[in-house]
Amino acid sequence: MDTQIRHRLVLILPPFQGHLTPMLHLATILHSKGFSITIASHDNFNSPNPSNHPNFSFLPLFYGLSETQISSKNFVDITVTLNTKCVSPLKELLVDQIEKANTSHEKIACVIYDGLMYSIDSVARELKLPSIVLRTTSATNFLTYHAFLQRQSRGCLPLQDCMSLDMVPELEPLGFKDLQPLRFKDLPMFNSHVMQQQITKTLAIRPSLGVICNTVNCLEDKSLCRLHDLYEISVFPIGPLHMMAEEDSTSSSCVEEDYSCIGWLNNQATKSVLYVSLGSIASWDEKELTEVAWGLANSKQKFLWVIRPGTINDVSEWLESLPKEVKMAIEERGCIVKWAPQREVLAHQGVGGFWSHCGWNSTLESLCEGVPIMCQPYFGDQRVNARLLSHVWKVGLEWSNVIERNEIEGTVRRLMVNEEGKEMAQRAFKLKNEIRLAVKAGSSYDALNGLVKRILSLNL
Ligand code: UDX
Repeated sequence: MDTQIRHRLVLILPPFQGHLTPMLHLATILHSKGFSITIASHDNFNSPNPSNHPNFSFLPLFYGLSETQISSKNFVDITVTLNTKCVSPLKELLVDQIEKANTSHEKIACVIYDGLMYSIDSVARELKLPSIVLRTTSATNFLTYHAFLQRQSRGCLPLQDCMSLDMVPELEPLGFKDLQPLRFKDLPMFNSHVMQQQITKTLAIRPSLGVICNTVNCLEDKSLCRLHDLYEISVFPIGPLHMMAEEDSTSSSCVEEDYSCIGWLNNQATKSVLYVSLGSIASWDEKELTEVAWGLANSKQKFLWVIRPGTINDVSEWLESLPKEVKMAIEERGCIVKWAPQREVLAHQGVGGFWSHCGWNSTLESLCEGVPIMCQPYFGDQRVNARLLSHVWKVGLEWSNVIERNEIEGTVRRLMVNEEGKEMAQRAFKLKNEIRLAVKAGSSYDALNGLVKRILSLNL
């Protein structure tokens, strides 16, 4: 790299846990490649703590979200507002950065933004700044957006209920043919006009330097090839980003992690614990929590359970209201925390299974540690990920998803005790090693070098 002029990258952080974590990992990776990093992030909503990231410069970006919107947790509505209101403050911020760079032997080499923030495309274009989009979901999920648009343009929407188990013909050439293909019921539901517009807009963006996918060839090679053909711009699969940034031990958690569960795990037998967590958005209501508590208790397995703040009014009161036998089972075999250091938990030898909503970060984190998954997808990309886990990589358990104590007891035992679960664990172990190889010296490592060259080639 030119020693005279430093190359600075401006990364724009979306204020959602599942999106900001991969972006911060990307920042760490690119910093280790010699780039200076500026992070533009919302100043009062899920903003990271700058003191955890002393190598980066942080700038507040006014996204214009109201308190009511923030507390509504309406992801779609928040995303629309972010995209309409961030444009002019972002332009100001970038103009200011360009001016500062000019006076300090620096160059803004590139703007990197999340695919959710589609309106940044036009800002980068107008300021003639090279740009890259980070896609934080699987490549296969991204292809489902294309399938959606194709169907829409042919007038094949909305989908009929009777088609839910049919396979999606637009995704068939993916090469899933020999495996179980994606069915209509696995696709993200774009059931409002606003969501459909968002998909159309995010697909329309054409970042000048290409697209980074938080995925790895050995998981999604066919989808990646297909994406490359469809998109006609460079695609860099440099994931899993948390593995590529492994020397980074700083937390990007929006909630404080409770490390007491690691002490509890240290006292458990190898692979004996089921880790239960639905990520940062999905949740069970009180009635469901009670069924889960019964199911876990009756399964007789050890469990570490994340019940996020705000899931129900008062967790202690709810725990107290449970029947004595369930309370005793939780005391004897369970550990409940508000938020866990998830990557450390999954890497712990005590953990043998993960009951997950199949968010893409949780999916990757589990795959990287060889932990098989009991799949409970809720919305968005989660059904696609669950289908990949259960029918393509065969390390995830598909079940009825009915939150009822007997169903839960049986499914937990299928994963943690039965032969079926043990075979999944063996496949997960193999996959973990393949992923690790790709990160150390294989496809992800090569793709990262390709990405760095690409950024520098336009900025010499
Ligand atoms: C959202 C979407 O729901 C998901 O489908 C999409 O792929 C990304 O955006 P989220 O629901 O939060 O994300 O799920 P996920 O992608 O799994 O991300 C959750 C993150 O929170 C993970 O990195 C996980 O390690 C972390 N986490 C979760 C903790 O650190 N502690 C916890 O207790 C729970």
